[in-house]
Amino acid sequence: MCSVVGYVGKNLSRAFVIEGLTRLEYRGYDSAGFACIHSADNSIMYTKSQGGISNLLRNFETFPIDGYVGMGHTRWSTHGAASVENAHPHFDCNKKISIVHNGIIENFHELKKMLQKQGHQFKSQTDTETVAHLFESLLKEHKNLKSAVLALVNLLEGAYAFTLMLADYPSLLVVVRKRSPVCIGKGEDEMFIASDLLAFAGKTNKVLFLPDECYAFVTRNSVELNDFNGVSLPVYFQVITVPWTADLKGGHEHFMLKEIYEQKKVIQDTVHNNKADENYLWKKLGLTRLQVQDLQVLKIVGCGTSWHAARVAQFFFESIANVRTEVFLASELRYQPFFKETNSVAVAISQSGETADTLEAIRFLRQHGMHTLAVVNVVSSTMVRETQGYLPIYAGPEVSVASTKAFSAQVAALYWLAHKIAFEKELITERALNAAENELLVVAEILESTIEKYKNDIIKKHAERYAQAPYIIFLGRHVSYPFALEAALKLKELSYIFAEGFPAAELKHGPLALVDTNVPVIIFSVLDPVLYPKLVANAQEVKARGAHLVAFAFEGQQELIQLADVVFTIPHVNPLLGPLAMTGLMQFFVYEISRFLGRPIDKPRNLAKSVTVE
Ligand code: F6R
Repeated sequence: MCSVVGYVGKNLSRAFVIEGLTRLEYRGYDSAGFACIHSADNSIMYTKSQGGISNLLRNFETFPIDGYVGMGHTRWSTHGAASVENAHPHFDCNKKISIVHNGIIENFHELKKMLQKQGHQFKSQTDTETVAHLFESLLKEHKNLKSAVLALVNLLEGAYAFTLMLADYPSLLVVVRKRSPVCIGKGEDEMFIASDLLAFAGKTNKVLFLPDECYAFVTRNSVELNDFNGVSLPVYFQVITVPWTADLKGGHEHFMLKEIYEQKKVIQDTVHNNKADENYLWKKLGLTRLQVQDLQVLKIVGCGTSWHAARVAQFFFESIANVRTEVFLASELRYQPFFKETNSVAVAISQSGETADTLEAIRFLRQHGMHTLAVVNVVSSTMVRETQGYLPIYAGPEVSVASTKAFSAQVAALYWLAHKIAFEKELITERALNAAENELLVVAEILESTIEKYKNDIIKKHAERYAQAPYIIFLGRHVSYPFALEAALKLKELSYIFAEGFPAAELKHGPLALVDTNVPVIIFSVLDPVLYPKLVANAQEVKARGAHLVAFAFEGQQELIQLADVVFTIPHVNPLLGPLAMTGLMQFFVYEISRFLGRPIDKPRNLAKSVTVE
């Protein structure tokens, strides 16, 4: 969510901090701020602004502050509106302590009340400001930096990663972590601090991921690391090279469009790279061949689009690999009773590998003794470090907030994995495994060619029409039902038009009351011979109520094609891969509606790319 970036070193800090924040702006763009130590008198100088980094840059035109110790922040609001007063950095009463923070201080109400009684004056509605005032009190009381930090972390509840800048200790930054991610990069006579190592990729490859419940005193050439009991820990910088090339839109108007068009290659890469590494697959997943052969139950967790990918994949694991699969919304799982099952494995699906709800779910499952795996895009993420094995999806950096290519890569990777498990269990032959890989490559072509086939129609004929809709209903059955959920999510987040996905047969149990002549109903067909006629019957029920029906049908499905007002036809694929074949066109359809409405497509309001708060 929010991003924290800091610098202590031989150079002035602002250039690095601003570049780092820009790279991490996917984490939030409600407001931005920068603070640094004034080299003349060690006072803390700062500036902040509403909105993204571009607004903050304008502040520097009239107030060009800089210093050798600096830190910055972009915010995704949790406590208090997206205003300048709530923008970070926040301060204590004397502006000698400054903080930038990612996460939530859950007990801030009680702490704030206590501090207000002691006379502390608050300037914002944030939970973060409480930490600065609390630290002011503790520093006075303890008169020693280390014991004040220790006292501070013992009073704070929640999940957080923050950096403190202290006028009385002008050559260091204090970095504190509980649950939320933060890492430190070591350069030559300089240290970089960031919520995501992408901020300093290309500057150093020596990285310390701050361990959970630890704090560090960071100077230009040292890191002193302690845990929350005050025990000093050894500092090891791992060598991790994350390639950084400035993200370019490649001639496209938005990153989202670029990412939609990258999907063909992403699916190809997912197949080829995983295949190239297949001899190490079980090792990478931390499983023995025997464990795979005996596998009976998968418990999959994820959020949003990743959860939809998991719901699609449930059909793969059950029908291809004969493994009972339960899919949970990560945010709900921990609050349900847990039933331990033998021969079961837990899988987290996540693009970023940093989603707080998914991380907490996987920690919960691990505490219950489950073997945990991550299917992730970002292999340097917390999720990979905290699980016992991982499968990369090879989508490459996804910049646009709405997930597109990560979804198709997840579906492709999970289809491949289901076949690998089935092969290991001797349920399918090597030939069938190779055929499945080939099916994915064919679908990758179809995903792109259907966009090309219909793009002009969508732009010229349909986007304007559907942009006027009061709301839109998406329908699917079997494997296309979770896909209908994904389509509805994409439309909501990008166009701000309300949309919902339903299993087509469920409509008559209530939601059919929503249907009238103004409401577009979009139906995603299936290639199942039993379900297809039933889906046609559901489409007829909708048409009978005067709805405008849009069908994503497979070639030759004449009954549905004739019924619909608008039809997009898709070539035949393996029935389980129908949603993947439709993915590009569905995303493009949503993209054009949102573009017609003039929405900020790559950064929809109120959202952030990496959701690191629960
Ligand atoms: C929607 C979207 C989100 C994410 C969700 C999980 O377009 O991007 O719903 O899918 O926040 O994020 P990851 O996959 O990073 O765990």
